[in-house]
Amino acid sequence: MFAGQGRQIHICEVTTRDGFQIEPTFVPTAAKVALIDELSRTGLPKIEVTSFASPKAIPSLRDAEEVFRGITRASGVIYSCLVPNQRGAERALAVKVDEINLVMSVSETHNLANLRMTREQSCAQLAETIRAVRHSGIVTNASLSACFGCPMEGLVAEADVWRFSERLLAAGAGGISLCDTTGMAHPAQVAGMVEEFRRRFPTAALALHLHNTRGMGLANTLAALQAGADRFDASLGGLGGCPYAPGATGNVCTEDLVHMLEVMGFTTGIDLGLLLECARHLPEIVGHDVPGQVAKAGRIRDLHPEPAWLAEVREKARERG
Ligand code: COA
Ligand code: ZN
Repeated sequence: MFAGQGRQIHICEVTTRDGFQIEPTFVPTAAKVALIDELSRTGLPKIEVTSFASPKAIPSLRDAEEVFRGITRASGVIYSCLVPNQRGAERALAVKVDEINLVMSVSETHNLANLRMTREQSCAQLAETIRAVRHSGIVTNASLSACFGCPMEGLVAEADVWRFSERLLAAGAGGISLCDTTGMAHPAQVAGMVEEFRRRFPTAALALHLHNTRGMGLANTLAALQAGADRFDASLGGLGGCPYAPGATGNVCTEDLVHMLEVMGFTTGIDLGLLLECARHLPEIVGHDVPGQVAKAGRIRDLHPEPAWLAEVREKARERG
């Protein structure tokens, strides 16, 4: 039987970045700050707070500096941010983020749509940024979008995933996130890619950024766990999606993931009760229902009272012998 046996799993919460970047209605800065402060009290080890993208490209996160300045940083929490280019890194450094998560796509078409650069131009700029940031003591991570498929190109060459991973790690990236931007991955593919990453880069930190676009998010997570992965991005309520990847929808839902890990015996350090409270505020913040399921159904150990009429049924069954 595959079980957690106390294995430590690191979760990075991304709803205020991946989730809010695609929300049609601007989430007010104060509401973003309040939610991040609430999430900071749940035991999450890392929160991807926002993104320092061009405000023209991602208008919903145009308040990135204000959000970073507004939050109360809890000790033990890494406050990360997404950065698409050098200008973004300068903005992130100015507000003293803990970690910079640089992003590029392994699909040429998605990279052009999302970042308005070729993959080569992005990779060169990110590598340069990593080298520049290395001396500031701030950790960098590199997220590779569309690793498991691109909605415009279809399958991407796995060799490209390893080529860009290698270049960004060689530049000094602290880790790589393999991103399934539009939920095109399946469990067998995820297991194979995790094994291959670990074979090629045995000392590099690896994270999985999985979307539930086709309902395979938790299945893919399980496959990654079995292949040895222990770092995952996830979003409260299961919000999320890249506005420049056609058909993109939400990430793996954080509270559903933590619930699954907890019942399987993994350790996350997260208080699921507090996390569910955050999740239950989310529909009010974004003004619509969210995909997460455990916040609606309750935990498997949250029992419902039996209906009052059952006493009569039980009594009749007893009389029948
Ligand atoms: N933050 C703020 N402003 C930025 C910026 C950044 N990171 N990068 C560029 N700009 C500004 C420039 O200063 C310039 O401003 P100006 O018009 O006032 O002179 C303008 O944006 C254009 O700069 P340019 O370098 O030509 O950028 P671009 O228009 O080609 O856009 C990106 C390139 C990468 C900045 C943009 O495509 C982007 O932010 N993409 C991110 C998309 C994203 O986050 N997707 C979801 C996550 S996967
Ligand atoms: Zn994503």
